[in-house]
Amino acid sequence: MASSCSSLFLLLFMVFVGSFHLSVQETTVSLSFPLTSAPLSETSSARAKFLSSMVASASGKRRVQKTTAAVVASPPFGYNYRSSFKYSMALIVSLPIGTPAQTQQMVLDTGSQLSWIQCHRKSPRRPPPSSSFDPSLSSSFSVLPCNHPLCKPRIPDFTLPTTCDQNRLCHYSYFYADGTLAEGNLVREKFTFSSSQSTPPLILGCAADSGEAEGILGMNLGRLSFVSQAKVPEFSYCVPAKQGLVVNKTNNNNNNAKTGSFYLGFNPNSRAFRYIDLLTFPQSQRLPNFDPLAYTVGLVGIRIGGKRLNISAAVFRPDSGGSGQTMIDSGTQYTFLVEAAYAEVRKEVVRLAGPKLKKGYVYGGALDMCFEGEPSEIGRLIGNVVFEFEKGVEISIDKERNLDDVGGGVHCVGIGRSESLGVTSNIIGNFHQQNLWVEFDVGNRRVGFGEADCSRTT
Ligand SMILES: *[C@@H]1O[C@H](CO)[C@@H](O)[C@H](O)[C@H]1NC(C)=O
Ligand SMILES: *[C@@H]1O[C@H](CO)[C@@H](O)[C@H](O)[C@H]1NC(C)=O
Repeated sequence: MASSCSSLFLLLFMVFVGSFHLSVQETTVSLSFPLTSAPLSETSSARAKFLSSMVASASGKRRVQKTTAAVVASPPFGYNYRSSFKYSMALIVSLPIGTPAQTQQMVLDTGSQLSWIQCHRKSPRRPPPSSSFDPSLSSSFSVLPCNHPLCKPRIPDFTLPTTCDQNRLCHYSYFYADGTLAEGNLVREKFTFSSSQSTPPLILGCAADSGEAEGILGMNLGRLSFVSQAKVPEFSYCVPAKQGLVVNKTNNNNNNAKTGSFYLGFNPNSRAFRYIDLLTFPQSQRLPNFDPLAYTVGLVGIRIGGKRLNISAAVFRPDSGGSGQTMIDSGTQYTFLVEAAYAEVRKEVVRLAGPKLKKGYVYGGALDMCFEGEPSEIGRLIGNVVFEFEKGVEISIDKERNLDDVGGGVHCVGIGRSESLGVTSNIIGNFHQQNLWVEFDVGNRRVGFGEADCSRTT
């Protein structure tokens, strides 16, 4: 990892934003950070996604009350990611945490609630990755005591299998399906943007089990998300376009990685954004398949190659059981659609480019519209992919970018079935948020989009 490079970046940004004398609690806050799009290792992503889904939402079935359970086989919530796609291509921001600040790489995730940092476990045998957080070096770090309300099971909007450990600390631990143990503590720590700008101590997870570099920045609407705890009225990001070249997963120093932007607070580009309202649903309505903490938007239609598909707008709305909501999720790579919508997308792709389809091929158990051969030619056959929202607002993916390079000379349409992810929602993933400002205006309960060249927006 080019950590010295990113800390230099961060330092430059801190110097830059420091001149505004803003505080995170003020509505005028405007902090900007570099954002990169990077692949995570298989184990890292598989674990991270599960950790995230444990605290993604309290909607649904709380089936896991024990601290050691085959949790993957029996998901704690209806809303649970099972596919390895959750963070396979993740948006990463580096944020200064603690006093003095230690720069932590975090996966930006609008689909989950609690933030996590990778904490340093003192082991004489295995030195921790230099990028992990060392609590002993921070004067603002504290642990959450067992008598804290959050450490009790079955909090209405937050559940994590916690126990009180022998040090009277709030400890979580559970086993993954592969038998490995995940554990850590709930803690409080500040985000320290500069000497004059910091958040109050926020509740975070301090993961002690892994040597992975990245934490998670939970950004959904839950009261424990970073946005809610830091009282950030709005945030936005611009995802740089993925380069045509397939990313070399064993080489994290991907020279082709472009840098986009992440804003906490006011975004000076927002005048050009077009907004849609977040859909809200009665709190009393606790539906098993509905995530009330997600950024739920009104998708009304999909066009492919100029043709509007025959999909009822009702397919993109939660039904009586809560299935079918459409959410904007920075933490999911591809876009996933419920069967009624997916079938129409696939039918049209087959109609336009069927003879070139790689038959019987499914990438990662999720993408089954894949092709060999010249991607730009196939892209042209399929044409632009457009997601139509309320008020005429659209996300349009140019025909040059509607296929993703999955390696081995294969390119796939970046849309899969929700079922393959183990969810019943429609999810607009980060693949379809490239070269786009996406602003989450929490205060005004709306989401804004603005086209941009994200590799030039910092
Ligand atoms: C990926 O990068 C590593 C390290 O630079 C290199 O050894 C390996 O050959 C690369 N793999 C491919 C497929 O390019
Ligand atoms: C559109 O879909 C509906 C229900 O799925 C079907 O009844 C109708 O015939 C379709 N219209 C066209 C033009 O294919």
